[in-house]
Amino acid sequence: MQQVNIGIIGGGTVGGGVYKGLQVNGALMASRLGVQLRVAKVAVRDLKKGRAVNIPPALLTTDWQSVIDDPSIHLIGEFIGGTTTARTVVLNAFKKGKSVITANKALLSAHGEELFAAAAKYGTNLYYEASVAGGIPIIKVLREGLIGNRITRIYGIVNGTCNYILSRMKLEGADFGEVLADAQRLGYAEAEPSLDIDGHDAAHKTGILASLAHGFWVKPKDIYVAGITAISKLDIQFAGQLGYTIKLLGIVKKFESGKGKSAKIQVSVYPALLPNSHVLASVNGVFNAILVRGDVVGDTLYYGRGAGQDATASAALSDFADAALDLKCGTKSRILPFTPHEQDGAVLPI
Ligand code: NDP
Ligand code: HSE
Repeated sequence: MQQVNIGIIGGGTVGGGVYKGLQVNGALMASRLGVQLRVAKVAVRDLKKGRAVNIPPALLTTDWQSVIDDPSIHLIGEFIGGTTTARTVVLNAFKKGKSVITANKALLSAHGEELFAAAAKYGTNLYYEASVAGGIPIIKVLREGLIGNRITRIYGIVNGTCNYILSRMKLEGADFGEVLADAQRLGYAEAEPSLDIDGHDAAHKTGILASLAHGFWVKPKDIYVAGITAISKLDIQFAGQLGYTIKLLGIVKKFESGKGKSAKIQVSVYPALLPNSHVLASVNGVFNAILVRGDVVGDTLYYGRGAGQDATASAALSDFADAALDLKCGTKSRILPFTPHEQDGAVLPI
């Protein structure tokens, strides 16, 4: 059976989860794909650090460039986070002709346009299913499942940490700071948790969904963002008494701008009052849910764990499977590129 060797750069929550996932289900995936995925190297910062996932010391290195340069490695997983070193990792991998799997929505938000162009230039690909909504395969839904639709609305709970905090504040009367500390301990929060609670992580994800759905790059500066730091237990209590639940939503609305003209969209992230009867109001804990409305299909709904090791690894594994099949078949035709198709689309201010 063909073997595809993987270099994982970043062996923390997500990278460790990918390693674990392949230990547990690698044989199953091989039987389904006809390709054996094998982890050849894992780059980390600190070789001595204790790890929840037991990665054999022989696989570990602190030299991520050597992983990219290793001619026996076919695919690179970028799971270090951040936008500086991660950008170099991805570009250097492309220059070596290696496709990259990433979970890094901050990176895509800041440098996606450049990175997809570089992937095309070097005949490589960038796979990013794990970048939005953890284990929910929402990228495949927009890219493939709903390709015959114009997307008119997206309403998403896309940040697991914020939903975990708001849910526990509502259901248990828990304290904001204590729940945030739990989210960090459980591996849900970003290394810099203000990205979660200030709404920027949700904005990165909502921007990715908007770009994919509408075919032009939505810039971070065009997204209205408000986080959850100003939400108190009292706000949640009062909302409850009036029959509402507070949820941090990522929203993409499409507006028709006149006959023959391309669509205009609005992209925003803010804590919204949802009637308790709304389907998104009962999505609790680290779970995410995304309601996508297409002009042909109508409303569709996707639900699952939005953060954490196993959920995110599940999404990344599906990308490794896609990438391995692309290598096996010698084609990238199964993956639709992130190509602009509405050049004159625009984001309207709120
Ligand atoms: P962690 O902090 O758990 O892991 C980061 C890993 O990268 C660590 O193993 C760290 O090494 C390693 N690392 C950092 N810098 C370097 C470097 N310069 N050279 C080599 N290794 C380095 O982060 P997560 O796994 O949580 O997040 C990774 C990415 O996945 C981020 O982009 C995040 O936004 C995204 N993501 C996270 C999710 C989650 O639920 N946690 C869900 C979806 C996406 P060491 O272990 O030695 O410190
Ligand atoms: N910090 C992110 C969240 C991780 O809580 O949703 C998943 O992208």
